[in-house]
Amino acid sequence: MNGALQLRIADMSAEAHDVMRLELVDARGQSLPAFEPGAHLALTLPNGAVRQYSLLNDWRERDRYVLGVGRVRGGRGGSECVHAELRPGMLLHSAAPVNHFALRPDATRYLFIAGGIGITPILSMIRWCHAMDKPWQLVYAARNRSRLAFYEDLVPHRERVHLHCDDEAACPLPVARLMADAPADAEVYCCGPAPLMEAVRDSASPVPAAARHFEWFSAPVAGEAPASADGFWIDLRRSGQSLQVPPELSILEVLERHGHDVPFSCRDGVCGTCETGVCEGEIDHRDYVYSEAQREGLRSMLICVSRARSPRLVLDL
Ligand code: FES
Repeated sequence: MNGALQLRIADMSAEAHDVMRLELVDARGQSLPAFEPGAHLALTLPNGAVRQYSLLNDWRERDRYVLGVGRVRGGRGGSECVHAELRPGMLLHSAAPVNHFALRPDATRYLFIAGGIGITPILSMIRWCHAMDKPWQLVYAARNRSRLAFYEDLVPHRERVHLHCDDEAACPLPVARLMADAPADAEVYCCGPAPLMEAVRDSASPVPAAARHFEWFSAPVAGEAPASADGFWIDLRRSGQSLQVPPELSILEVLERHGHDVPFSCRDGVCGTCETGVCEGEIDHRDYVYSEAQREGLRSMLICVSRARSPRLVLDL
């Protein structure tokens, strides 16, 4: 595990409808590893699930991590476990914070677009912008006011925040207009439900694609790339093993079927837990963690979804 931590739940409270605020401290009272705005924790929950939650507090704080957890009814059980089973004083294990949603510190201006619980990584970014005196605007959408989590944190910045409640506006956030009117020199950071992020990604805008950044909580349903028709081979550098990956299985599944214990969490290409080094071969990246720019020359891959463009990959396993 990446810098295993033992954390104690110092405080928890209902933050908004179906949103729980959790404050975690080091179980032995020590300073916590530093984190950057946009970073997340991979928490191991009492039911054994590992789930990623964005850190929303000030990146300079070393005495606590603050998270917001939205309840997903009928989901895979992580958020239900947080809401139903966690109590103050309980101990949890976590890896050290990881950041796949890093802010470019040199942008001229920042446009943040958040939907629902997607406000959590944006809050830490806003704290950074405020401290650094950077120009920023936030558009924050929710179904109704009872679901506007962490509203009190935004009140001091009222003039920079545009709130959109679907029920009051009688329509969803007009993303096409928002993106069409966005300043060309803005860096856009978006987190929320997949339809919102797909709309921000796909809308015509003066903001170039490379300046639009996303934190996916779940993989979009549509638009998945087809499996490679003939499959491919993986060679494991350390063990010398060669395994065939058929079209219907992921690399992760093939490794599991051959007894390899590989870390994973989402199995959807959104969390980064299964990142594996690649020594040789051409990668077909299919994840939602790396931007196009980050993929250039990248010698690692997320093996729960990504595949091979070449007949063979050599993995650092
Ligand atoms: Fe989450 Fe692979 S397990 S990206």
